[in-house]
Amino acid sequence: MKKAVALFSLSAAILASSHAGAVTVTLACGDVGLELKMCKEGAARWAKKTGNTVKVFESPKLTNDRLGLYQQQLAAKSSDIDVYQLDVVWPGLLAQHFVDLTGKVPASEVNAHFKGIIDANTVNGKLVALPWFTDAGLLYYRTDLLKKYGFKAAPKTWTELALMAKKIQDGERKTNSAFSGFVWQGKNYEGLTCDAMEWLVSFGGGTIVDSTGKITINNAQAAKALDTAASWVKSISPAGVTTYDEEAARGIFQAGNAAFMRNWPYAWALGQGKDSKVAGKIGVAPLPSGGARNAATLGGWQLGVSSYSKNQDAAISLVRYLTSPEEQKIRAIQGTYNPTLPALYKDKDILAKNPFFGSLYSVFTSAVARPSAPTKLKYNQVSQAFSTAVSDVLNGKMKGQQAVAKLATDLARIKGRGW
Ligand code: GLC
Repeated sequence: MKKAVALFSLSAAILASSHAGAVTVTLACGDVGLELKMCKEGAARWAKKTGNTVKVFESPKLTNDRLGLYQQQLAAKSSDIDVYQLDVVWPGLLAQHFVDLTGKVPASEVNAHFKGIIDANTVNGKLVALPWFTDAGLLYYRTDLLKKYGFKAAPKTWTELALMAKKIQDGERKTNSAFSGFVWQGKNYEGLTCDAMEWLVSFGGGTIVDSTGKITINNAQAAKALDTAASWVKSISPAGVTTYDEEAARGIFQAGNAAFMRNWPYAWALGQGKDSKVAGKIGVAPLPSGGARNAATLGGWQLGVSSYSKNQDAAISLVRYLTSPEEQKIRAIQGTYNPTLPALYKDKDILAKNPFFGSLYSVFTSAVARPSAPTKLKYNQVSQAFSTAVSDVLNGKMKGQQAVAKLATDLARIKGRGW
């Protein structure tokens, strides 16, 4: 007995010494689908490895609400949150509040990520955050229903999608009144900016503001793209689609109540999960073309260290750990979070779980950026003006042409003498 006690106190001493200088780091991560659970698990692995403690701050679900809250924290120079999960469109807005990771993270580690994503995180030469996962809009479809209604492949154009969705919806409604052809993100928020950018680019209608900062939204193809999307509401998409975010659309698709869904890659892992009615019946394809090309909006999230953090070294260690290949592999396998490290797209275990990471690789590498780089600190205003104009068209308040003309005027006002 005596011996056992002695052993115990010895190991307690070793533990205590390895924990000397241990700190508590607070990490603010997202909460869409599996995000929060997986964030906590990753943080716990780092804590176990380093002897530090991580507190996970539970952020609002919508990216717009998160941004509002984080801006308040950062404006107050609060040290409450050490590490923030940042949307790919935020570095320009928030750069001033984050530690420059250049030189603090080995260049080889930085250069292992997709160059385009590192560029999106670099503001005036400052590396604001390290990429954690990337996103691109995808078309999900029901393989069983396509077959049942005689379709051989996913639609290549929006016209084809509308025809297929209508036929399947008409058939399925005979036994399921809750069934819809196509669900997507129609609520007036950042998610609608993402969906509508895909329509615009697919019709050849540009990216609202081009890379030189010129306002390009007032054009016939952009108007046509918005009118086309408005024609889906209450025909192949339910009236309620104008209130849907990612999770609302996923809920309907996963319950077996939609033929097609626009969503990000995370919906794949959940759609194959135990509580999904459509597991084993899902296909993934590039979003359809409006005549110009297939287009997916570039999304994704990064981890940055607050300049007001009192534990910057530990915070940087946490960021490096979570963005490492080992962690990104776990997240890709368990949650379909797309790695930001090209090498992982050749990983056999990842491809076995998510075959479309291989077959749709070019969709991920050619995803279209929202105009956050040219509009800098004004991006959020630009995005809100855009999603409001789109929402007006979807809700029948305006026609596409009228909406894009008005939006061009609103954007010129926001731009003032320059972005
Ligand atoms: C996803 C994307 C993000 C985008 C958001 C919109 O989380 O990764 O970039 O802003 O959806 O809801």
